[in-house]
Amino acid sequence: MSRSVDELASVEGIGRVTIARLKNAGISYLEDLVAFNPEELEELAGIDYERAVKVIRAARQLLGWSARVYRGKEYAEALARREVLTTGVRALDELLGGGLVVYDIYEFAGEFGSGKTQLCHQLAVTAQLPPAKGGLGGDVVYIDTEGTFSPERVERIAQRFGVEDPLSRVYVARPINVDEMEEVVVKNLAPLLRGGARLIVIDSIIALYRAEFKGREWLAARQQRINYLLDWLKRLARIHEAAVVITNQVVAVPSTWGVTIKLPAGGNIIAHASTHRFLLKKAGDVWTAECLDSPRIARGASASFLIAEDGLRDVK
Ligand code: GTP
Ligand code: MG
Repeated sequence: MSRSVDELASVEGIGRVTIARLKNAGISYLEDLVAFNPEELEELAGIDYERAVKVIRAARQLLGWSARVYRGKEYAEALARREVLTTGVRALDELLGGGLVVYDIYEFAGEFGSGKTQLCHQLAVTAQLPPAKGGLGGDVVYIDTEGTFSPERVERIAQRFGVEDPLSRVYVARPINVDEMEEVVVKNLAPLLRGGARLIVIDSIIALYRAEFKGREWLAARQQRINYLLDWLKRLARIHEAAVVITNQVVAVPSTWGVTIKLPAGGNIIAHASTHRFLLKKAGDVWTAECLDSPRIARGASASFLIAEDGLRDVK
């Protein structure tokens, strides 16, 4: 389905040299090319700015992606057609309005033990289910920044859902710093998505930034780098129709009357980038997910679940 950048040769003013430069930079497909900004292309492929603008525009046109304006009704229909991924927990699916929708970025924040990593493992399995069973029938890219990805958990959960050989369809990256994570997202994700990956998991989005950018004086730089990564995730999710799940840690914030409340880390940048934001909590033997922000789900709406040997389950 992917179309080669060679097609650009048919566009007047774009020559062999430019196409060769794109390929040298690892950009062989039009679908990959349209994800870049002119500035990024200039830096990565050594193509001057005006030419970069022209090349990206031409690629978009060849793909039939020229900036389109939709009638509201048509737009609503397109939204309704988007694929939905089940969490494997009925109550959570109901809270989400059916499940996780492709294109959108879902953020699950919470304290240690609140179920973030377990949920990611479960989604790494359900994403492999065929659409008729609530999955995306695709592979999974799991970016593990905290070293908690467990192949055994994936296999155990997969048994329950009848997914065979689940690890053959999960790609795991274990970046050790922000630079490596950016490389994974900007360079490695596109080929995997083109090859059939439909779910991107980052568990967690914040750990590497917190470790690397310590102290107030680094805050602005840190936020800029987080923004860069999230922006790439959004572009890739849109181009390849993938679901995106990120987890986040929480920070204690002083509230009124001397009370502290726990809020997702990462400030405004992550808050704006995630389409739907949830807070996970554990209370006794039951876990809950509460909606903090979403364009479609009521703020404060929540659902309960259990974490069992075979993954997340509905409360009986
Ligand atoms: P941090 O990454 O530390 O911030 O926590 P988290 O939110 O990712 O928590 P995680 O999802 O790793 O774990 C949540 C809970 O799931 C744990 O406290 C355990 O109670 C439960 N859990 C994890 N693994 C298993 C398992 O193999 N079997 C069962 N029954 N429960 C498990
Ligand atoms: Mg975790």
